[in-house]
Amino acid sequence: MITQETIQQIQNRIDILDVVGEFVKLKKRGANYLGLCPFHNEKTPSFTVSPAKEIYKCFGCGRSGNTIGFLMEHEKYSYVEALRWLANRYGIEVAETETSPEYQQRQQVSESLFILNQYAQKYFSKTLEETEEGQAVGMSYLEERGFRADIIRKFQLGYCMESRDAFSKTAVAAQFNPELLQRSGLSVLRNEQLYDNYRGRIIFPVHNPSGKILGFGARQIRTNDRSPKYINTPENEIYVKSKLLYGLYFARQAIDRQDECLLVEGYTDVISLHQAGVENVVASGGTSLTQDQLRLIKKYTDNLTIVYDGDAAGIKAALRGLDMALEERLQVSLVLIPDKEDPDSYVRKVGPERFREFVVANKKDFVFFQLDVALKDAGDDPRKKAAVVNQIAETLARINKAEDFTRQQDYIRRSSELLKIDEAGLNALVNKHIREKVGKLEARQASEPSAVAPEAPAAGDADAFDLLNKEEANERALIRCLLEYGSKHLDEDGAVAEFIFAHFDDAELFDNKDLFHVLHLYKELYRSGAQPDMRTFLYHQDPGVSSLVIGLTDTNHQLSDRWHTRDADLNYNTIKDGYLKYLGKDYVVKEEAADQERYKEEVRSTVTYMQLKKIKKMMRENQKDMEKPHTPDELTLLKETHRHLKDLEIELTRRLGTVILK
Ligand code: UTP
Ligand code: MN
Repeated sequence: MITQETIQQIQNRIDILDVVGEFVKLKKRGANYLGLCPFHNEKTPSFTVSPAKEIYKCFGCGRSGNTIGFLMEHEKYSYVEALRWLANRYGIEVAETETSPEYQQRQQVSESLFILNQYAQKYFSKTLEETEEGQAVGMSYLEERGFRADIIRKFQLGYCMESRDAFSKTAVAAQFNPELLQRSGLSVLRNEQLYDNYRGRIIFPVHNPSGKILGFGARQIRTNDRSPKYINTPENEIYVKSKLLYGLYFARQAIDRQDECLLVEGYTDVISLHQAGVENVVASGGTSLTQDQLRLIKKYTDNLTIVYDGDAAGIKAALRGLDMALEERLQVSLVLIPDKEDPDSYVRKVGPERFREFVVANKKDFVFFQLDVALKDAGDDPRKKAAVVNQIAETLARINKAEDFTRQQDYIRRSSELLKIDEAGLNALVNKHIREKVGKLEARQASEPSAVAPEAPAAGDADAFDLLNKEEANERALIRCLLEYGSKHLDEDGAVAEFIFAHFDDAELFDNKDLFHVLHLYKELYRSGAQPDMRTFLYHQDPGVSSLVIGLTDTNHQLSDRWHTRDADLNYNTIKDGYLKYLGKDYVVKEEAADQERYKEEVRSTVTYMQLKKIKKMMRENQKDMEKPHTPDELTLLKETHRHLKDLEIELTRRLGTVILK
């Protein structure tokens, strides 16, 4: 973990204008700066940066956050990656706590590999551009295939000479150690001598999402060569095939903008499509996608479109792994390129316009594609067809997030039509698979007590999920109030923080224990005499805490606006209406309170509203209990409890009324 001192140093140096300005052209406008939003397409700028508050906010798409949040959103960095980026930018050395010697060793090797790879890339590009052999063999091959000079340079393509060890010798002379050279796959040891591994090949560097080189693919040029067409970097500390996607570094912004990622098989497909202006494209290297790769895509978009050649042997294998995509909540489509062409040759043949049109017109949802293929395979065999039905049910059971419930129902309806079976029956079968999965999950969680927080509940529990989320919205509002106004004066009893502490001193009152944890941390700091605020937590050493708090700032403005207008749910209005009727009088909603005093109202109503929710929950539980058989004494007690809670509810509703309505 990065030490607190380092984080502090980084925090002191952060300049939001400098960081955001790196990615967005900003113009001064009053106290703020304005630019075109990097998160959505717009022609007139609505993206605002406030240096004073150290936040950005887009009034077009609503995205907002602090400097670290910006890096996390724009560069898709984790919290720690964002810190490292900043440290690197400001020349701050990153000190780490509790790192094992093995970890440090690994970090060192990784660093060295990156440096070596960058050196090698420059060497190979230079060989391609500046040597006779590079021009005669490498460049003429690339030109013959129609790659333009600017594209060759953009993708940093290179050439490795035929000579036995031209590169290895130069690298050793430049102080790279032979073991590292082997680890990188650039050199191999034969008869105790270093040989260049990619002799006579075109070099395709493989970048990570921030542009550092992880490794290489090296393509043979001569067709009579019996060695493999490509030699790839072996797995090492930084090159992990299952976690990388070729071309992502060059595609990520286009993927973000177009909200779609095209997936092709090979290096040359990616490069050709770029050359044709289709830039939202990455390659998997022809193997089926792993969960890590799917998650990588998911950082940028929900829409994945696989573009393969029609007779690609790998199609079925690639599709098999894709059931996972449903769990990752990705929308996957498939486009097959006709006439024995691949994306590279096809885009050259028909041009960019028609290529795009073709993709749009021939996109097929992969679930139905899979179903089609399976049905054709099964033919009239009833046993095989039953297996297909069961398979599709299992696939659809993977759609397990409450938000996707409608999508799942849609799939079930259309699949039952294709299969000519009863929709309700398929629905029941899907539910059976869901239950089995949940059962397995629970069993697994029971055996690992330290397991991470459980996933969102299955589709059947959509209502419960919604309910939970609403409770949480209220808890989030409370913690945000605490962080924002904690040390401000509230009334004769003291500051806002005291008021909140007095009401919420028990973790049991929180559905989200992480939020209570923040309250607890705040209290400790506050009691020790500090004046903690939002900023203290934005840069907290525990990344869990800081990202939670960054999440709270995200909805900063929307939240308080919503509070006074819709409040996002009916409950509040129902209560308000009921209350007005209960009073039997006409109360007029008071004009907005004076701005400076407004936070007091916000604090009071947030606290009251949360109490009210807790009371309502207790009443529901009490009521449920009453429905069970009881002795007369028990029943009396339950009824009294109910009356007591009801009184509290009325009292709180009244308070809420006076806070909001005055
Ligand atoms: P292809 O054979 O389709 O290659 O393999 P390609 O990239 O389209 O190259 P060209 O157009 O023939 O020049 C697709 C991908 O499979 C991986 C590579 O990542 C390649 O880009 N592959 C293929 C290997 O790793 N090794 C091989 O020997 C062949
Ligand atoms: Mn090809």
